[in-house]
Amino acid sequence: MSTEKVDQAIRDGCKELVLDLPTLKEISKRFLNDVNKGLKKETHPTAIVKCFVTFVQDLPNGSEKGKFLALDLGGTNFRVLLIELSKHHFEMRSKIYAIPQHIMLGSGEHLFDHIADCLAKFMKQEHVMDETLPLGFTFSFPLTQTGLTKGTLERWTKGFNCSNVVGNDVVQMLKDAIARHGDVKIEVCAILNDTTGTLMSCAWKNPNCRIGLIVGTGSNACYVERQKNAELFDDVDKGSGNVVINLEWGAFGDDGVLDFVRTAYDRDVDTNSVNPGKQLHEKMISGMYMGELTRLALERFTKEGLLFGGKASEALFTRGRFYTKYVSEIESDPPGTITSCREILEELDIHHATDQDCINVRYVCERVSKRAADLVSSGIATLLNKMNQSRVTVAIDGSVYKYHPHFHNLMMETISQLVNPGITFDLMLSEDGSGRGAALVAAVASRIRQ
Ligand code: GLC
Repeated sequence: MSTEKVDQAIRDGCKELVLDLPTLKEISKRFLNDVNKGLKKETHPTAIVKCFVTFVQDLPNGSEKGKFLALDLGGTNFRVLLIELSKHHFEMRSKIYAIPQHIMLGSGEHLFDHIADCLAKFMKQEHVMDETLPLGFTFSFPLTQTGLTKGTLERWTKGFNCSNVVGNDVVQMLKDAIARHGDVKIEVCAILNDTTGTLMSCAWKNPNCRIGLIVGTGSNACYVERQKNAELFDDVDKGSGNVVINLEWGAFGDDGVLDFVRTAYDRDVDTNSVNPGKQLHEKMISGMYMGELTRLALERFTKEGLLFGGKASEALFTRGRFYTKYVSEIESDPPGTITSCREILEELDIHHATDQDCINVRYVCERVSKRAADLVSSGIATLLNKMNQSRVTVAIDGSVYKYHPHFHNLMMETISQLVNPGITFDLMLSEDGSGRGAALVAAVASRIRQ
């Protein structure tokens, strides 16, 4: 980061976005406390970080095979996939379908009818209408599971808010919609979170992989916990002795434990979201909010006369108009150049920005994305220290991690500062985890059954 040319007033204004090492350690301590509450039977009902048991116990070993369907709901896109696994090899065909906003905010029945319809269209196109294929359903929202194919929605997150789904078993809702549709047959083998899918798809090749992380539209992580620590899973067959825990860490802070680092921008983003008061950690980190956090800071600095001579444009002052991808693009300019920054400001109808403005704008972007990377890193380091294994690979997917030019390096640096001596780690991009992982969970389930 070349910060020497940034105006001092901008630097001062951004100070509240900086999390120093002692602060990150304090956040890590609070997070560990919340994870333990989520895992324990007695404290789970009121816990904020829910630590949901996923019923996924066995990681893939590379020998899984067969033909599987997968549904992936919960990121920017809804996808249907057909996956063929053979020894250490896979083939995948997929199609993206839009979920229009009126469906995201409509009735649950309507949502699942839409999903069934897309599935049928896809199966027709792929000529598998006559087969009864096993299906893995990646459903990336908080679920209380009572089995690998049974999950009750606890609450919607990100942009979704469909009626009559919270409190219901979403696998049953999918099956009912497929029955209403009438012309396709499938066998739902597993429902899983995108973090679990990401972990599974990396573990297929890399046996050290024990954490799955998403930094995309939303943010969340899962990890492999010893069964004896997962108290809500203690009455189940011992199996491998491990179980994957879906942390739902987006909700961290919903009881106020992050208020000591939240800023006016965070409060603004939250108040204007579809779920005020919820997912406060996620709202400081993920792609759905990072652009808006940046825009709010830029708006404030403009109004204070620190940017653009005090005058910007209606676009910059419009909620949601500064996309998260702008942050990645602006920070992709090689040091000393401001090409993307200028282009983006032009797109926002700001035609009078000086070079100094561009340097300052980049600095604001860097502060917002570094804070996100630091929060994610604090969470990952907490897990690494808790698991206390000498070598762990973290599988990561999501648009922010994938497209932000420095997110990986920022995370490497901060995790290294927080992790206990003797623990080594890698961060590995696990592309398409939520699709591939769904097939793998379904495949492992059928391998174990056999
Ligand atoms: C939200 C969801 C969570 C998911 C994450 C990433 O936090 O609640 O289930 O894993 O987004 O998509």
